[in-house]
Amino acid sequence: MTASDKFQTQDVGTARLTYGDQEIELPLLEGSEGERAIDISALRKMTSLVTLDEGFVNTGSTRSAITFLDGEKGILRYRGYPIEELAAHCDFIEVAYLLIHGELPDSEQAAAFRSGIRHHTMIHEDMRSFYNGFPRDAHPMAILSSVVGALSTFYQDSMQVDDPEQVEISIFRLIAKLPTIAAYSYKKSIGQPFMYPNNDLDYCENFLHMMFATPAHEHMIDPDFAEALNLLLIVHADHEQNCSTSTVRMVGSSNANLFASISAGIGALWGPLHGGANEACVSMLEQIAADGGNVKKYVDMAKDKNNSFRLMGFGHRVYKNFDPRAKIIRACCDKLLSKLNIDDPLFDVAQELQEVALKDEYFVERKLYPNVDFYSGVIYRAMGIPVQMFTVLFAIGRLPGWIAHWRELHANPGKRIYRPRQIYTGDTERKVVPIEQR
Ligand code: SDX
Repeated sequence: MTASDKFQTQDVGTARLTYGDQEIELPLLEGSEGERAIDISALRKMTSLVTLDEGFVNTGSTRSAITFLDGEKGILRYRGYPIEELAAHCDFIEVAYLLIHGELPDSEQAAAFRSGIRHHTMIHEDMRSFYNGFPRDAHPMAILSSVVGALSTFYQDSMQVDDPEQVEISIFRLIAKLPTIAAYSYKKSIGQPFMYPNNDLDYCENFLHMMFATPAHEHMIDPDFAEALNLLLIVHADHEQNCSTSTVRMVGSSNANLFASISAGIGALWGPLHGGANEACVSMLEQIAADGGNVKKYVDMAKDKNNSFRLMGFGHRVYKNFDPRAKIIRACCDKLLSKLNIDDPLFDVAQELQEVALKDEYFVERKLYPNVDFYSGVIYRAMGIPVQMFTVLFAIGRLPGWIAHWRELHANPGKRIYRPRQIYTGDTERKVVPIEQR
């Protein structure tokens, strides 16, 4: 299939809408996995009606050929490859190439992609002074979003969204520099000198080096940690039209440059209902552990409609079965903790919480299962990654997915700026009363 072929859906008939004395027919479309949609592109022209769908629970924003999810069956595939196979046989850079270019790289393509990334791992020396301006306790997601947005000020020669060469070098710069920007934010928070990237190391090793080495000592990188990080980045790499990816597409649809679009996606990911849930989940597990491990108390709180408390790391808009990523991460967690003989009470609390919740009618009837954020924090803790950096690691993993969707948006012959409609419910027309009379 050529790239443009991948935007094709099949016409499989029509859906009939009756409205007043009108009866209209709307095209029924079907994707490659049998998903069906009503094409409402002509609805307003035909009926003056728009649709309303808070949170877009029932609304597709685009055709896409990047990632397929089946929430009922707990299926996740990147470009047709099951996540379980990619996690078992590939490294993160191969998966990044797959998401962005649509095929797994051969050895030559992989070598060229790695080399392109390796040449851009440092940030401009003037960018290092940005960090002096942030308060010591600045959240690293705020730093990440700010510094990524500022990359556009240093690379004004590669901002044109319709120039493939400028887009390609921006992709290398983003994938290469995000770990550096992230590690520098951690060093800033602990008052240690920044560590330059070491391009003799692979992607995950280099990040761990920049995070934990100091000029006074070379950090011995644990291969188990590098392997676990590689797997975590793979399972976070894409997830179709999630909140942050839709944000990247929204911003990109105005033809804003790639740096600005990714910076906006980082902001959306930060929210505790989205990527911020991994940080919130570990804080919740710590609270439960400190409260005598009384998981039933917290399950009951999560069920109480008068209580805003939710089980972080539980539930999902699409998965109404086990999140396949949670299964992979949990297995990795188990293996890593036992291999390193780490007895993390939070892992025990997490497993007990899962057991209690999955037996509880409230969670069963709502099909609430652990999601990608439920166990990831336990692994990050085992690696010595501080809690505030968890969502930053999610961003490093999700970057290739964001880039792939941004490119797909621009490759789409039907691309239009995102501009949803609304239903106005405010005041009807009224006259201004002069202030003296108000
Ligand atoms: C990610 O979209 C993606 O793909 C996201 C992601 C990705 O890879 O990009 O998978 C990453 O963001 C995973 C989700 C991380 N967020 C959390 O773990 C936060 C806790 N989970 C929830 O807040 C919630 O489940 C969401 C935000 C994930 C989903 O929200 P929805 O789809 O809007 O569901 P909802 O809020 O309408 O909930 C449906 C019902 C409600 O009860 P009723 O009104 O039907 O009585 O389930 C309840 C909710 O109160 N519910 C929960 C719950 N999640 C949903 N109750 C308690 N604890 C929870 N975690």
